[in-house]
Amino acid sequence: MEEQKRYGHFDDQHREYVITDPQTPWPWINYLGNEDFFSLISNTAGGYSFYKDAKFRRITRYRYNNVPMDNGGRYFYVKDGDTVWNPGWKPCKTPLDFYECRHGMSYTRITGRKNGVEASVLFFVPLKKWCEVQKLTLTNQSQETKSLKLFSFEEWCLWNAATDMENFQRNFSTGEVEIEGSTIYHKTEYRERRNHYAFYHVNAPIQGFDTDRETFVGLYNEFANPDAVMEGKPRNSHAHGWSPIASHYIEVTLAPGESKDFVFLLGYIENEQDEKFSAPQVINKTKAKALIAELDTTEKVDRAFDVLCTYWDALLNIYKVKTGNDKLDRMVNIWNQYQCMVTFNFSRSASFFESGVGRGMGFRDSNQDLVGFVHQIPPRARQRIIDIASTQFPDGGCYHQYQPLTKRGNNDIGGGFNDDPCWLIFGTVAYIKETGDFSILDEMVPFDNQPGSEVTLFEHLKISMDHVIKNLGPHMLPLIGRADWNDCLNLNCFSWDPNESFQTTENVSEGTKAESLMIAGLFVVTGKDYVALCKKIGKADEAERMQKAVDAMIEAVKKHGWDGEWYLRAYDFYGRKIGSNECEEAKIFIESQGWCTMAEIGAEEGMVAKSLDSCKKYLECEHGMVLNNPAFTRYIYEYGEISSYPEGYKENAGIFCHNNPWVIIGECIAGRGNDAWSHYAKILPSYVEEKYQTLHKVEPYVNCQMVAGKDAFRPGEGKNSWLTGTAAWMWYTVSEFILGIKPDYDGIRIDPCLPETAKDYTVTRKFREAEYVINIHPNGQQKGVKQITLDGNPVDGTVIPYSKGKHTVDVQM
Ligand code: BGC
Repeated sequence: MEEQKRYGHFDDQHREYVITDPQTPWPWINYLGNEDFFSLISNTAGGYSFYKDAKFRRITRYRYNNVPMDNGGRYFYVKDGDTVWNPGWKPCKTPLDFYECRHGMSYTRITGRKNGVEASVLFFVPLKKWCEVQKLTLTNQSQETKSLKLFSFEEWCLWNAATDMENFQRNFSTGEVEIEGSTIYHKTEYRERRNHYAFYHVNAPIQGFDTDRETFVGLYNEFANPDAVMEGKPRNSHAHGWSPIASHYIEVTLAPGESKDFVFLLGYIENEQDEKFSAPQVINKTKAKALIAELDTTEKVDRAFDVLCTYWDALLNIYKVKTGNDKLDRMVNIWNQYQCMVTFNFSRSASFFESGVGRGMGFRDSNQDLVGFVHQIPPRARQRIIDIASTQFPDGGCYHQYQPLTKRGNNDIGGGFNDDPCWLIFGTVAYIKETGDFSILDEMVPFDNQPGSEVTLFEHLKISMDHVIKNLGPHMLPLIGRADWNDCLNLNCFSWDPNESFQTTENVSEGTKAESLMIAGLFVVTGKDYVALCKKIGKADEAERMQKAVDAMIEAVKKHGWDGEWYLRAYDFYGRKIGSNECEEAKIFIESQGWCTMAEIGAEEGMVAKSLDSCKKYLECEHGMVLNNPAFTRYIYEYGEISSYPEGYKENAGIFCHNNPWVIIGECIAGRGNDAWSHYAKILPSYVEEKYQTLHKVEPYVNCQMVAGKDAFRPGEGKNSWLTGTAAWMWYTVSEFILGIKPDYDGIRIDPCLPETAKDYTVTRKFREAEYVINIHPNGQQKGVKQITLDGNPVDGTVIPYSKGKHTVDVQM
């Protein structure tokens, strides 16, 4: 194995990942912002900001897949004599005497030192504010007085990130700015329909500025050597069209030992239509000035930062574990929960792999993200459920994606993904179990956002179940539609045209027969949940009706979905088996093993155990479990996109981390703690971090969507970090199934599944208006709770009944 260099380490006490070498194998990023204003920031200060929607309200420009990589961002240039450098090393790449980037909970601090000067920048988005703060501290650590020239830099995006990259015949003529004091305002398209503008401000007098990119940089230069900076002379340029930017110029003199703070603010403002202007052509700056006034001193900024940190303390105090295993504790207590918040906020819209222009919020994605987030801020989860359900159609189908700004279904992709409806039950049940708030079921929710079409949320759940039952195929298994969870298994597409989308083309939709075993398992799992919910709210008839459908599905799987050693994956359009020993390639797939074992289909007949064993035998490798095995080696037009990928990547036998937890939960339900743990540890970032920083390539503090599988050219190489359902599934798996603390309607169910080596551990869990300190004694057992006491009194069964206040729970296994 090649030598694995290290680029950083965890600092658990500060809940930070500390990057000590700017030349990470790939930009290692962080997310700033919690609700409306968001930023992506790399370890060299690259990235961009947007308001709510990375496509429609992109504030600063970013060029994906650029050369060099990760160019453009919020840059500070320090000119000290003839040396020009940046605290984050890029873009000048002047070798630094010291470099450090600390990614924390919604903030990033980047520090560079050169020739006796330290520049440290704290980046964060204050709670409830529409701005990014950049607090720059310059310190003279040398023995002589330093006269420095400081240039800031941001490049504006012309708002719509998609057209910003393509419609240059228009774009080059629309750019407009205003400059007033130390604030540069970006007002492109404000003269017409936009009611929003952005600004970049610094809380100090400036000695110059630039707003025209070409003037500042020079047409034949780069961000690494802008003319204005290299000469140490701002041009005071005023942009008219072309590419507007914002750069402040400040002369700073620092005595030995002296330190100075500068607060830079990148802000976003919306005005009412009739209050847009203060004079003809002059934007109304009242709100911008008010926002600036809230954050114009170091003290005010420090206070806002404290508020943010306290907010994160509270969020991370809801579920805390102490096992004595640092690698487990830091993921459970810090990074996994943090990633869950980020995926909840962004779904799959904006990362360094998701360009922010394409995908909006996914229906199934956002429902799954809920299980990782619902314990953190239940009211936001509640709103999300309503938003998602509002994009459903009257027949139970749904838009596959919707735009976060408009909350409207996305017509480009449409619907027809037949697993989508089931996930609404998954998300809603998780919400009710966490909160005990059954009233959500009575909320009136429209179809396709049409006013007047409202029915209760419960009705939406009912038609979701019915959508599956009404769309069964020849084996009485669920029809797959365009695709199920695996967007790339396109059994009704049949495409020879490279210009067609595998997801939206359905050349053979008439009379389709393709069926999915994954939806079958998903239907049984969510169907059982639905039945239990119906019983809970007194709908006995509905419970009985659905129980019959669930039982029928179980029978159909046993009869037509079992291949001898594992569950089939699907039937294709012609009724041929997919994921069978009879197939030449891709004999076994992970999704149906996960869902059918979670559903315990055929457990008594030994199917579950055999399926789990087959996962170990055929899917498992050093870095996790691959999606299918063996990989497809050629394009099969009846299967679609899955076979378009080279072996070992993405849905073609990559380790698609999202679905590993399904099998792990299957293992937990079956009581196989050793196997569950070994699968889990393989994809747990903290374990990967220790061994494979170079090979893994992407951020070592969060899960990525896909790690190259055993058939790939570089097994173990990660891609598509941050925005993946893996976050919520890893959380659900470890918090509820491994550590075994599971919210339920009337209390908390305690049922861990552990490796034999597990030691005593304690989980502190805030739940509704109670807090439970739960001490678990595994006694060498993998599964099975023998005795629970609540505040010293024995409890019958495994559910500790909910009551307000503080409680101590003792669990013997
Ligand atoms: C999508 C998911 C999908 C998964 C597997 C992800 O990129 O966001 O919705 O289930 O890929 O295809």
